[in-house]
Amino acid sequence: MFVELDGDAPLVVQITRSLRAAIVSGTLRPGAALPATRTLAAELGVSRNTVVTAYEQLCAEQLAVAEVGRGTFVAAAVTPSSPQRTEGPAPAPAPLHEVSRYAARLRALPAPVLRGPQPQLRYDMRYGEPLVDPLLMSSWRRALGQAAMNCRENYPPCIGEAALRRAIAEYVLRRRGVLCDADDVVIVSGTHQAICLLARILLDEGDRVAVEDPGYEASVQALQAGGARLVDVPFDAHGLEVSALPRTGVRMILVTPSHQFPTGAVMSLERRRALLEHADATGSWVIEDDYDGEFRYDGTPLPALRALEAGERRVSYVGTFSKVLFPGLRLGYVVCPRALHDDLVAAKRLDDRGCSSVDQLALAQLMESGAFDRHLRRAAVELRRRRASLLDGLRRHAGDHVVVHDSCAGMHVVGWLPAWPADRVRSLVDLAAERGLGLHSIAPHYRRAPPAQGLLFGYATLSVKQLGAATALLGACLRDASRSRAIAPPLAVIDDEDAMA
Ligand SMILES: Cc1ncc(COP(=O)(O)O)c(C=O)c1O
Repeated sequence: MFVELDGDAPLVVQITRSLRAAIVSGTLRPGAALPATRTLAAELGVSRNTVVTAYEQLCAEQLAVAEVGRGTFVAAAVTPSSPQRTEGPAPAPAPLHEVSRYAARLRALPAPVLRGPQPQLRYDMRYGEPLVDPLLMSSWRRALGQAAMNCRENYPPCIGEAALRRAIAEYVLRRRGVLCDADDVVIVSGTHQAICLLARILLDEGDRVAVEDPGYEASVQALQAGGARLVDVPFDAHGLEVSALPRTGVRMILVTPSHQFPTGAVMSLERRRALLEHADATGSWVIEDDYDGEFRYDGTPLPALRALEAGERRVSYVGTFSKVLFPGLRLGYVVCPRALHDDLVAAKRLDDRGCSSVDQLALAQLMESGAFDRHLRRAAVELRRRRASLLDGLRRHAGDHVVVHDSCAGMHVVGWLPAWPADRVRSLVDLAAERGLGLHSIAPHYRRAPPAQGLLFGYATLSVKQLGAATALLGACLRDASRSRAIAPPLAVIDDEDAMA
């Protein structure tokens, strides 16, 4: 505890004065324990008697009370004259000329699209959240306990713990066809940090970055805040339209080939090859965000871009544990071209000096023990059931209005509302929220006007039964919201097998 001794009076007076000021100002709250006399005496280098006398003086002034066997406490009846923090209007932000250009750009960014969990909703069809498996969480807690006992006490290696990098190198080869050594893997705190660090080492302010429109807001905003100029590139059912990429002046291309966010389009093999050729020919760097490439419900997943690239030249492969475990973990990885490796590790060192060793070692243990693979298998089975329940419910209850484009991957599907104008979709979302159903429009993920209105239906956090009830409620909301103004049903209901146009 900080007790200021100003040297301006006998020690006992100085201690009493300092504590009195702390009590009266509210720094020490009513009921707070004063430090044990022995501890404070040792801290200040004074005799214990001096502290005892100071405490007695505070008790005499009714600012403190001594309780036998428990210690001395600030009196409950004290009313602080100026409590530390007062409620009131938030202070105005610092003027723009006093902050960096980065802060100015941060302030210009739109508010995040997805708000935190809304407990008042009975069924929230939130996207972006993984399936939480109680079995996995108990394995995780055990692994965490062991890692805490065995972890290093000094700083972690900035590149990441070797055990985790080995486990990831083995995993990405087996699941995504990405061939690399443990030394090629750099551990980061999620996709978000990966994009920020890659942008830092590859871009200067004003450089152009090609991004998908619509796209993942957090990555796009990280790039904008860094001063990048965005080039929106359209895509169709086969993924990014490589032919629409500018031939010059684009330093970086950010893509989500295995499950485009948010539309769910999967980039075809032909387009993947075309993108690699384009990157080679134009000298652009490609960032492959494989955020939920692990979950695919039919056929074999296409190899990652990085796996198709001969010579590991232009593609940085970014993976995350946010979807396969849980986002609170904040762990992900980058497998980048060797030419970028040292710069990336140096940027990581200056950013945060490495991710927590305890978390990394626990995750390595989870992967080595097989618990992680078992979780992936269980999760895939359960997600498949939930997805089937959602699609079935949408067909039965919402088929008159909702056209489903399902990419057979990931943890959400998009339902388009071709006959619904934007204002009607907003009313639908509001009506659903009043009835306890959380719906999420796709529109805010577009930077240009969306070609049609649509909803993102996340299914990882609702059970099969809840999804049945949620889609029935959706059907009722669609009916009621469409009644107030005539809305024609779509011409055809496209289901999972149909391509996205
Ligand atoms: C496209 C995309 N990439 C990555 C992520 C995960 O980011 P992080 O690893 O920073 O949690 C998400 C989360 O929803 C996402 O939608």
